[in-house]
Amino acid sequence: MSKAVTTSTYVRNLSLGLIRQLADFMDPQDGWKTIATDIWKPSGEPRYTQFHIRRFEGIIQKGKSPTCELLCDWGTTNCTVGELTDLLVKHHFLAAAALLLPDLITSPSYSNSTLPIGAKSTEPYSEPQIKKQHTEPYSEPQIKEENAEPYSEPQLKKEHVSPVCESTHPKQNDDNVTGYGSVSLTELQRITNNFDDRPVAEGGNKLGEGGFGVVFQGNLNGKMVAVKKLTALLEASIQELEGQFDQEIKTMAKCQHENILQLLGYSNDGGHYCLVYTYMPNGSLLDRLACLNDTPPLSWHMRCNIALGTATGLKYLHDNGQVHRDIKSANILLDDAFVSKISDFGLARATGQYAKTMMTERIVGTTAYMAPEALRGEVTIKSDIFSFGVVLLEIISGLPPVDEERNPPLLLDIKEEIEEEEKTLEEYIDTKLEDVESTSLEKMYKTASHCLHQMKNKRPDISTVLHDLKCIVNTLSCT
Ligand SMILES: Nc1ncnc2c1ncn2[C@@H]1O[C@H](COP(=O)(O)OP(=O)(O)OP(=O)(O)O)[C@@H](O)[C@H]1O
Ligand SMILES: [Mg+2]
Repeated sequence: MSKAVTTSTYVRNLSLGLIRQLADFMDPQDGWKTIATDIWKPSGEPRYTQFHIRRFEGIIQKGKSPTCELLCDWGTTNCTVGELTDLLVKHHFLAAAALLLPDLITSPSYSNSTLPIGAKSTEPYSEPQIKKQHTEPYSEPQIKEENAEPYSEPQLKKEHVSPVCESTHPKQNDDNVTGYGSVSLTELQRITNNFDDRPVAEGGNKLGEGGFGVVFQGNLNGKMVAVKKLTALLEASIQELEGQFDQEIKTMAKCQHENILQLLGYSNDGGHYCLVYTYMPNGSLLDRLACLNDTPPLSWHMRCNIALGTATGLKYLHDNGQVHRDIKSANILLDDAFVSKISDFGLARATGQYAKTMMTERIVGTTAYMAPEALRGEVTIKSDIFSFGVVLLEIISGLPPVDEERNPPLLLDIKEEIEEEEKTLEEYIDTKLEDVESTSLEKMYKTASHCLHQMKNKRPDISTVLHDLKCIVNTLSCT
C-alpha cells in the first residue's frame, strides 16, 4: 500500500499492486459493476452503458479482472482517488476504501459525513461485516412473513412450507416425484449416471449449463426429470450458495402455476446442492428460436402462445409479490405441447408487501436483458417487464439477445433504430416465419416497445401486457 496516496492522487497513477488489491474486493460479487454504474459523465449521463458493462463482463471470461479494466479506463478521465473513495464508501466497500485512504477513512469526521445511514464507521473493515451490512435489509424472516400471506395454506402441502431439510433418504411416499420433497444425492447420482457431463446427444446426461450450475437429465421413478446441480461461483462463498438454494426452494414451494416450472424435489446431502425439476422435452425458447439441433422453427401461432403463457406466469409471480429478476429466453422452457414454463428463481427476491423497490448489493441477471435501473442495482417488477420486452423482440426477430458481430450487438437497441427510422420493423421480422401475420406482429412489437421504455414508470404492468397478448392470440384464432 502506497503512503503517498491522497485524495488528489490520480487513479491512473495508482500502482498495479494496489489496483490488484482493490480488485480482490471489487471483483467478487460483481462489486465493480455497482461502482461502474454509478460513474457519470459531466453531461449527467452514465459513463458506462449496458454495452460497456457487457464488455467488462467479457473480460472475466478471459480470466482478467474487470475492476482493473474499469479503473484503467476511468483513470483516463483524470479521476482522483478522492472520487473513487467516495464511490467505494457510498456503496459500502469500506475495506477497499480503507486500502486507499486508511487514515482518512477511519477519521470520525470523514466517516460521519460520508458513510451511508446505518453503516458503522468505527467497526473494522473486515469483509464479513461489509456483507452483513448489505444483506441486512433482505433478512429471510421478513420476506417469509410478508410473502406467506397471499398464499392460502391448502394450496401448499406440508412439505412445501418446511425449511430445507437434511435429507439422506428418498421419500417413502408416492409424493416422491409428483410432490415436493427431498431426494438423496445417491439417488440423483444413480439417475444421472454419476452426473455424466457429456451432452445428451453424445450419450451423456448433460442438458445444459448456466451461471449457477449444470443441468442433467435423469429418470426418477419412471418420470423424466432435470437435475440442476448448483456449483459455487469462483468467488461465491458457501453461504451465498446456501442462500441461493434456500431461496429457490422457499420461493418455488410457494409458486405453483401452469406456466411456472415445477420443482419436484431437492437434495442437500454432503454439501452438494441439487434441485429436481420436471423435464421439459422442448428445451428453452432461446434454443428453439435458434433452431438448435436442427429443430423446426416455431410458427408465429406458437410464438404468440408462448408469449401469452410466459406473461401469464409472470403475472402470477408479480401478483404474489415476486420479482423474477432473470427473465430471458433461456429461462423460458417448453413442455411437450410447447406450453411455456418460467424457470429459475434462484435470483428471485420477494418484493415484500410495502417495499416496491429494493436495492441489492449484487447486481444480478443477464445484462442484455437488464433495464437501466436494474443495472444500477434497483430491483422492481418493472425490470422484469423490461426483460420481457427483450424476449418479445427475440420472438419477433428470432435473433439472439446479444451478438458481438451484429450492429447493434444488443437486440434491445433495435427499438431505437426502428423509432429513428434507420430501419423498419419488417427488416427485423424472422425470415424463418411462414405464417407471419402483420397486424398481430405489429401489435406485439408495440407491446415490446412499451415494455422497453427507459423510464420504469412508463412501462406497462403485467396485466396490461397480458391483455395485449390475449388480444393478439384472440385475433389470430379468429383469422
Ligand atoms: N427442466 C429442464 N428441462 C429441460 N432442459 C432444461 C431444464 N432446465 C434447464 N434445461 C436446459 O439447461 C440449460 C441451462 O439451464 P440453466 O438454468 O442452468 O442456465 P441458463 O438458463 O442458461 O442461465 P441461468 O443460470 O442464468 O438460469 C437451459 O438453457 C436448458 O436448455
Ligand atoms: Mg436458467
